[in-house]
Amino acid sequence: MGEDMKIAILTSGGDAPGMNVAVRAAVRYGIKKGHEFYGVYNGYYGLVNDNFIKLDHESMSGIISRGGTFLKTSRFPNFPKKENIDKAIENLEKRGIDGLIVIGGDGTYRGALNLTKRGFKVIAIPCTIDNDIYGTDYTLGFNTALDTIVDAMDKLRDTSVSHQRCSIIEVMGRNNGDLALHAALSGGAEFLVTPENPISKEEIIEKLKHYKRQDRTHAIVVVTENMLNVHEFAKEITEKSKFTSVATVLGYIQRGGSPSAQDRILGTRMGAFAIDLFERGIDNVAIGIENDNLMFLPIDIVVNNVRRVNPLYKLVAEVS
Ligand code: F6P
Repeated sequence: MGEDMKIAILTSGGDAPGMNVAVRAAVRYGIKKGHEFYGVYNGYYGLVNDNFIKLDHESMSGIISRGGTFLKTSRFPNFPKKENIDKAIENLEKRGIDGLIVIGGDGTYRGALNLTKRGFKVIAIPCTIDNDIYGTDYTLGFNTALDTIVDAMDKLRDTSVSHQRCSIIEVMGRNNGDLALHAALSGGAEFLVTPENPISKEEIIEKLKHYKRQDRTHAIVVVTENMLNVHEFAKEITEKSKFTSVATVLGYIQRGGSPSAQDRILGTRMGAFAIDLFERGIDNVAIGIENDNLMFLPIDIVVNNVRRVNPLYKLVAEVS
């Protein structure tokens, strides 16, 4: 790959604030360097079903501040079937597309591997609120989701203090507690329950009884989804400790919203970097950021490795 490339872009999996930012940066940066761009609607489903549009400078107008993804997204577990990969490659090749940028999380990366195995050139940009991708300190969208959660926690604290309750807040993250951990630290939670820090319900209840004896007015428990039934747990706390407890499942609210300044900068850097990499003849890699430096690793390495556990989780209890 080199000059005057035709590049397609898709967003896939759970949407995350910053997807539009990365598309905008790649397209505008790339057009200035003489490349042509196609957007694929609905992720891999659109790739197979030939749902392409031409992207130009103008079509990127105003999207930097928009959450979600204007290209739409989908989960398409059947993508790896041979007939689907054949069709995807046929649709890309008939337009003379040289390379594809995929923006998403783990599932998106696995989809990309099916194309790279067939010799198609792909660059992946990590974009998920979960921050669960190996080879990058942060995924795009994580920072915005975190801000949304912390805003919700601040509001919950107001009412928890007034009513002297214990609030449980369930956040997303799938099997990764990074979002919950950062939320607990920045929202001042007393307890954190994540796959990396699976403290027991009994331990929390015992500590809450102690809090009551100390006349503490409220407590906040942050829980990663899939760890426990938060509504049942709230009932149990109410029955067994002297705290009345209420659970709030934050749900999809935390995935929407205008990207934070940090995510806009990250998305812009990553989108432009994808073009630089294609121009340097580098592909089949996933972009990451480490110590504020953009870097890249082969997609299969990223998919087959697990992020290290963030040791900061201990700090939640230490400052509670
Ligand atoms: O991967 C991002 C994510 O938001 C996870 O945190 C969550 O478990 C999942 O997507 C929800 O996916 P869906 O939109 O398919 O319900």
